Amino acid sequence: MKRLDQVLAADGVNAELELVIKDVMVACKDIAYKLGQGELAGILGATEDENVQGETQKMLDVISNDLLKDILVANPYVRGVGSEEEDYTIAGHADGKYLVTFDPLDGSSNIDVNLSVGTIFSVLEAQDDQSGDNQEVFLQNGRKQVAAGYVLYGPSSLLVMTTGNGVNLFTLDTNIGEFVLTKEALQIPEDTAEFAINMSNQRFWEPEMKQYIDDCLLGEEGPLGKRYNMRWVASMVAEVHRILIRGGIFMYPYDNRDPSKAGKLRLMYEGNPMSMIVEQAGGASSTGRMDIMDVAPQGIHDRVPVVLGSKNEVAKVVAYHTK
Ligand code: AHG
Ligand code: MN
Ligand code: MN
Ligand code: MN
Repeated sequence: MKRLDQVLAADGVNAELELVIKDVMVACKDIAYKLGQGELAGILGATEDENVQGETQKMLDVISNDLLKDILVANPYVRGVGSEEEDYTIAGHADGKYLVTFDPLDGSSNIDVNLSVGTIFSVLEAQDDQSGDNQEVFLQNGRKQVAAGYVLYGPSSLLVMTTGNGVNLFTLDTNIGEFVLTKEALQIPEDTAEFAINMSNQRFWEPEMKQYIDDCLLGEEGPLGKRYNMRWVASMVAEVHRILIRGGIFMYPYDNRDPSKAGKLRLMYEGNPMSMIVEQAGGASSTGRMDIMDVAPQGIHDRVPVVLGSKNEVAKVVAYHTK
């Protein structure tokens, strides 16, 4: 079986970017180990602190964040990092070429109940010589990403990533401590009858989203003409992985509770990396009105409405929002 480094080399990934990705993997393998310890490591549960999102941080949010931050800031090819768990972006090396944004632990509400969590990462190239502690250098749209991926910490630890030439799946072989290639060129089925959304927020959605979900629930007799199933795992990494393997549509839509009205998910380290992966696997990823990777970021913690997955189903939801 091919190791990650062999696949990256075969994909023509340059040595500097390869080292950045390998450092992300070093941190993720450590996160996987710590998660596998569960209660034994004494690091489950919440801290007393709140992050810039207004969420109470889990101990593993902070531990995962520190592992990724420390190794990447020390990498000579990294200009800076941006994280869900850091108020501001952090400078690496002034002559570093790459910017890395990450969600160190996605699905944190699952951590204390031993359910799926993941790490999401995105790599951009610095377009000028601004320091990495100035968020401006990160504010590029998703089409500028040179790499994107996630690690899903489940029964096995899986890496799914793209450098722009399709999406590959790697499984962590704990005997050798390496991610090995286990599925190449993932393709999302173009159609689906399985939607994922947090139904408890229905009263906060826009009418167009309410109408689409109402029509899904009407099943075969409704305008969508098929019986839909529903899933909700409360971990974007787990939802996206299910969609990559068997199709589906995942939505975290506009929400009238927020000043930005953009819902819960963050553009730079959830929306954009997952959109690159989904589009590279033949799927689609939209705000409901435009491709997520065309959204111009204003800040490192910008939120974005998310409708992603099987491209023909995403097209239907976009039609509800734009007709
Ligand atoms: P995070 O744990 O990194 O803050 O992200 C959680 C996100 C995403 O993973 C998931 O799809 C969504 O929040 C779940 O939201 P609800 O708790 O509202 O269901
Ligand atoms: Mn969070
Ligand atoms: Mn997240
Ligand atoms: Mn998170």
